[in-house]
Amino acid sequence: MQTRTLPFSDATIAKAARLVLDGSPVAVPTETVYGLAADGTNAEAVARIYEAKGRPSFNPLIVHVLTIADAEKLVYLGPLVRQAAEAHWPGPLTIVAPRRADSGIASIVSAGLDTLAVRVPQHPAMRALLEAVGRPLAAPSANASGSISSTRADHVLHSLGGRIPLIVDDGPCSGGIESTIIAERDGALQILRSGPLEIAGAASASGSAIEAPGQMASHYAPSKPLRLNANSALDGEYLIGFGDIAGAASLSPTGDLVEAAASLFDLLHRADRADNPRIAVAPVPDTGLGAAINDRLRRAAAPR
Ligand code: TXA
Ligand code: MG
Repeated sequence: MQTRTLPFSDATIAKAARLVLDGSPVAVPTETVYGLAADGTNAEAVARIYEAKGRPSFNPLIVHVLTIADAEKLVYLGPLVRQAAEAHWPGPLTIVAPRRADSGIASIVSAGLDTLAVRVPQHPAMRALLEAVGRPLAAPSANASGSISSTRADHVLHSLGGRIPLIVDDGPCSGGIESTIIAERDGALQILRSGPLEIAGAASASGSAIEAPGQMASHYAPSKPLRLNANSALDGEYLIGFGDIAGAASLSPTGDLVEAAASLFDLLHRADRADNPRIAVAPVPDTGLGAAINDRLRRAAAPR
């Protein structure tokens, strides 16, 4: 299959919508990372997402819709997650909630779970596609399963080229880190995946037995070994710097965590494609957005 990259425009969205309605997944930018979107009501179309990504079938997908009201056609939102939705949608927040029997969403989307992950995205390209298709879109990050997420069209092409028909290109994603995932359980908010948003009153669910099935130890993995908290490059290492530690390239020379989040996956891609056999990353403070960045880095460095 030939993969075409076309700039975001009305004509491109019309093409993308036709492909989606014909059952094909297409790549489209969101404010966090590029997504690989397919018709969430069409099980075969969703199966093509898993196929293109080489994704284990137990790992469920996020469904994207235009409004809170649209989300409530798919899931039951408890009072706490509803408040969070009102505060942060459209934006980089995903809510896992009990699925409605009449949602119309193919069960393969949530890999058989009785919950569904929903998100109202902000990016104009993703919103234009949602409007043009008129159905909820299931969309994981647009990268081969377990590998580095895509924050630019050429990352998608590198990872999924030949396996999808179209990439809608609107330049680099402004956020760069996948959405914060929350759920409401027993009257409390839990964080299932750390992300760009800090949610007041929410506790991290890690360590408990609860599902964020995509939160496997090894994830976002480059093809080479990655060393964390490096103050300088050892022999053969491509050092990704931060703040005072310069490296071959820097997440943010000024130590700005927002800039670091936006450049993280791009620099991992660059390091992965460099001639150096190994990658190292300078320490990133574990506060605020830094916690989400370090979460991604730990998984990228984990033994596979
Ligand atoms: O920012 C984002 O969230 C991006 C853009 C494209 O929207 N999407 C994204 O999707 O990161 P993906 O598929 O790479 O990650 C989805 C995560 C996985 O960790 C998955 O296990 C979890 O959401 N998830 C999905 N449905 C779930 C459910 N019903 N219960 C618990 N976790 C769920
Ligand atoms: Mg992903």
